Amino acid sequence: MKVEVFFTPGELAGQELPERVVVIDVLRATSTMVEALANGARSILPVATVDEAARIAQNIGRDTVLLCGERKALPIDGFDLGNSPAEFTAERVRGKSLVMTTTNGTRAFLAVAERRGGDGERRSKVLASSFLNLGAVVAELATAGAGGANGVTLVCAGREGRFALEDAVCAGAVVRGLEESGPALELNDGAIAARGLARRHMADLHRMLELTTAGRHLGDAGLGDNLSFCAQVGRSDVVPRFRERKLTLE
Ligand code: MLT
Repeated sequence: MKVEVFFTPGELAGQELPERVVVIDVLRATSTMVEALANGARSILPVATVDEAARIAQNIGRDTVLLCGERKALPIDGFDLGNSPAEFTAERVRGKSLVMTTTNGTRAFLAVAERRGGDGERRSKVLASSFLNLGAVVAELATAGAGGANGVTLVCAGREGRFALEDAVCAGAVVRGLEESGPALELNDGAIAARGLARRHMADLHRMLELTTAGRHLGDAGLGDNLSFCAQVGRSDVVPRFRERKLTLE
């Protein structure tokens, strides 16, 4: 199976995507998506801007959706929830449709959708990964791989168009999981590098997250407790799927 890792959505330019794509934004969009859907949220609609999120909520009916997300890591004025996964408890999100806008993570999903469109999007399997659901993502990819699917591309959200260590380590952990669970993989340079970073950092994820730009930024914003939450490997066994613009567990 061919496994490619791209460290920013910008690297997708000119790439043909395989059916299966995994989007990773450890701090914090995909960690939050996993937690929200695991706690019973009905769906998550990722959108690019605050205005667009507010307009969609207005159109659907402000009372029927939860607006969530961040700018500069902080909750957005007038929104119901920020982007800290611990906020997305069953009490808050069960049965709700979420509209989410974040600086990097939601945009990574939109970048993948843009590269497909139409039939391509309907046929494809775009999954959300974080450390929280790492094992479940590996199991899902490994099962599909045995069925002969044509490889997987892992897309790191990165940070403002740049490399983010935490996403690369998570991508590398997926690569390692796939190597342990199946036949030899054909890796691109990104996947080889990510695997090396996972070897180096998986033993102390909390420390790794503290070292990162995003981790330090969260600490400075008084959100340092997000790091221990997002470092929990295997907290969840859900695999969010992005289809027809929404993330669900269907
Ligand atoms: C993002 O999507 O940019 C992040 O998740 C940022 C954050 O949560 O602070």
